[in-house]
Amino acid sequence: MSRSAHPAGPRHADVFSEGHYSAPPADLNVLDPKVWSHTVRRTEDGVVTVGGLEVTALAEEFGTPAYFVDEADFRERARAWRTAFGHDADVFYAGKAFLSRAVVRWLHEEGLNLDVCSGGELATALSAGMPADRIAFHGNNKSTAEIHAAVEAGVGRIVLDSFQEIVRVAHIAQSLGRRQRVQIRVTVGVEAHTHEFIATAHEDQKFGIALADGQAAEAVRRALTLDGLELVGIHSHIGSQIFDMAGFEVAARRVVGLLAAVRDEHSVELPEIDLGGGLGIAYTSDDDPREPHEIAKALGEIVTRECEAARLSTPRISVEPGRAIVGPTAFTLYEVGTIKPLEGLRTYVSVDGGMSDNIRTALYDAEYSVALVSRTSDAEPMLARVVGKHCESGDIVVKDAFLPADLAPGDLIAVPATGAYCRSMASNYNHAPRPPVVAVKDGAARVIVRRETEDDLLRLDVG
Ligand code: LLP
Repeated sequence: MSRSAHPAGPRHADVFSEGHYSAPPADLNVLDPKVWSHTVRRTEDGVVTVGGLEVTALAEEFGTPAYFVDEADFRERARAWRTAFGHDADVFYAGKAFLSRAVVRWLHEEGLNLDVCSGGELATALSAGMPADRIAFHGNNKSTAEIHAAVEAGVGRIVLDSFQEIVRVAHIAQSLGRRQRVQIRVTVGVEAHTHEFIATAHEDQKFGIALADGQAAEAVRRALTLDGLELVGIHSHIGSQIFDMAGFEVAARRVVGLLAAVRDEHSVELPEIDLGGGLGIAYTSDDDPREPHEIAKALGEIVTRECEAARLSTPRISVEPGRAIVGPTAFTLYEVGTIKPLEGLRTYVSVDGGMSDNIRTALYDAEYSVALVSRTSDAEPMLARVVGKHCESGDIVVKDAFLPADLAPGDLIAVPATGAYCRSMASNYNHAPRPPVVAVKDGAARVIVRRETEDDLLRLDVG
């Protein structure tokens, strides 16, 4: 999924010369700041620290596997998005990437809004004090109970995803004596350059209402007639882990085209457009993500230009980055267990977690980096595959990576850039208790989501 491609191949000694793999980095002990969170360092004695705390001490206190989130880095990235978009735009953090009450408070304090897509995410946001009017509610199949909860809470907007939903939200809002602010999610027909399962703006998929065949214009027509709805804008989300701004530009152009058509037909200028999330991050050293200020500039310019051409006043823009804020701010810490060199292939390094704490490699063929973090090593690089402890051969965390050949059971290794869609997509496969999320900042660590226990697992089993 990341752009770096390292196809599985034969013995690494042979393939270096054939160029199938990137050569191992000159020094395996050096941590590339592109993929590690901002406060990660390697100390002189070789141990890696985050927020000033050594991973060896963190492992002792919190156990492994565990996710460690660099709070200062999270806040810095959130603030960078907020600052880049300024006062004329809104940044909605996409809670699906990772949500907890601590994260909601950080976002609130840093001036961001929040995008939720389920009753559970909504409840988390409200319980941590996010003002309802700063919450957007998404989803292609919101239940009646979820719509009811969102309208009753007074969320700032519900993003309508189907014709049925236009009627349902209007009906529920009216029954509660409310007029709900809504946007309509449209599919703009852009094929985002990303994995098929996370591209969302081509037409043959479940999200949104198509622009191309006039369906979106029809949705606007209907929404404008319903008393329970206040239609404030159009929403587009083209996919995830995207590096190329071209898709966003096409999306912006088409959304503004719809605003112009709405103005021509109804004499109404919708005041908002949301261009979704989806900006890519560096999972490996080969990835080159855009900075928030570049993204804000590119989107602002295209929307302004298109609006001027259509003689529309520029709408308020919003965006919904999830991965780009939380993704780079966390790593997963594992303890190395079984090590199996397969002659002529690679060395399988088993860790104490796996696909239950990071499903992305199995699901999307995602690529990750990995490093030995409890010590340094001068040993030769070995081509390794980091695998989990689950009963499944596809249980791979890092497909191809170089680790020092003297790696031994008990060493700690860490996989960076696991802040997004790892804990939030974690499972209890093989009855694995899900790992904790520990926030680290200025020499202090605190659990923000605790580790599950066997009691937690058994509590659900009422047979
Ligand atoms: N807005 C909407 C409407 C979305 O559906 C999503 C992601 C986002 C914003 C945030 O996208 P981000 O900036 O985080 O890329 N599980 C997949 C990603 C699925 C994303 C679903 N929607 C993964 O692990 O890559």
